[in-house]
Amino acid sequence: MKQFSTVKSLQEALAAARGENHNLTVGLVPTMGALHDGHLSLIKRAKSECDTVVVSVFVNPIQFNNQEDLAKYPRTVEADCEKLASVGADFVLTPSVEEMYPEPVTTTYHFGALEQVMEGPRRPGHFSGVAVVVRRLFDIVHPQKAYFGEKDFQQIAIIRNLLEQIKYPIELVPCPIVRADDGLALSSRNMRLSESARKVAPTIYAILRQAVEMSATHSVAEVKQWVMDTLTAYHSPDGTLINPDTYHVFDPEYFEIVDDTTLQPVQDWQTVQGVVGCIAVWLTGVRLIDMVRFR
Ligand code: PAF
Repeated sequence: MKQFSTVKSLQEALAAARGENHNLTVGLVPTMGALHDGHLSLIKRAKSECDTVVVSVFVNPIQFNNQEDLAKYPRTVEADCEKLASVGADFVLTPSVEEMYPEPVTTTYHFGALEQVMEGPRRPGHFSGVAVVVRRLFDIVHPQKAYFGEKDFQQIAIIRNLLEQIKYPIELVPCPIVRADDGLALSSRNMRLSESARKVAPTIYAILRQAVEMSATHSVAEVKQWVMDTLTAYHSPDGTLINPDTYHVFDPEYFEIVDDTTLQPVQDWQTVQGVVGCIAVWLTGVRLIDMVRFR
């Protein structure tokens, strides 16, 4: 595995690899580091489908609308590189902010209705910031395929739309969520949970799974309400972890049941083919997201 901190050095290595093989398939896995098995599953998938796998490790400041969140974002580049080498990544780009953005960023992307739901209104500018960095990575690497995790379900729809806007012939490969044995979706944010918060965090997915069962006998509105109410009413077994402002352990920000392509809320289980539930929940000051497929 080769690590590059400059765009030019990565591009030279890619040009050399392509020079030897004109049909070289390059797969790109963009990440913000703090890698876990969920990321590694993307790299393994890319390895199985591409000749050369490029991974970027870059905490993208322009996709954070909350500066505290940016400051707290875990940065573990050395450990990340060891993990990447262990799963066979070929090239890793670990650029500085100046290297990624030598000029001030002036581009803004718009995604219409796709960004008016769920994460969009709660994180103004977030998806435009994601689109800017992903496009920059596409321009640097020119991959044939790009791999993204389904935990950030809305992000996948946004990147699909970005590809339509910029008309790049890149195949977007969505990859399933990887979960811990107890069901918690793997996330870099999990490392910010205390031991006792980590113990109750799998409740989120347990409730989502129950919601799928309920969907056989209850309306969309009933299932939505039940998920929000059940999470809000939850009390940890030892009575700790309560947010002093809300008196809750879990503070769900939203739970939406949406069309898996348009991301617009569905009113009725039968009206669309693909239906998913997406959730964002606060637990002891850590914001966790997850999703589940209904249909
Ligand atoms: O999903 C992420 O980790 C980030 O949003 C991405 C796609 C790497 C862009 O910074």
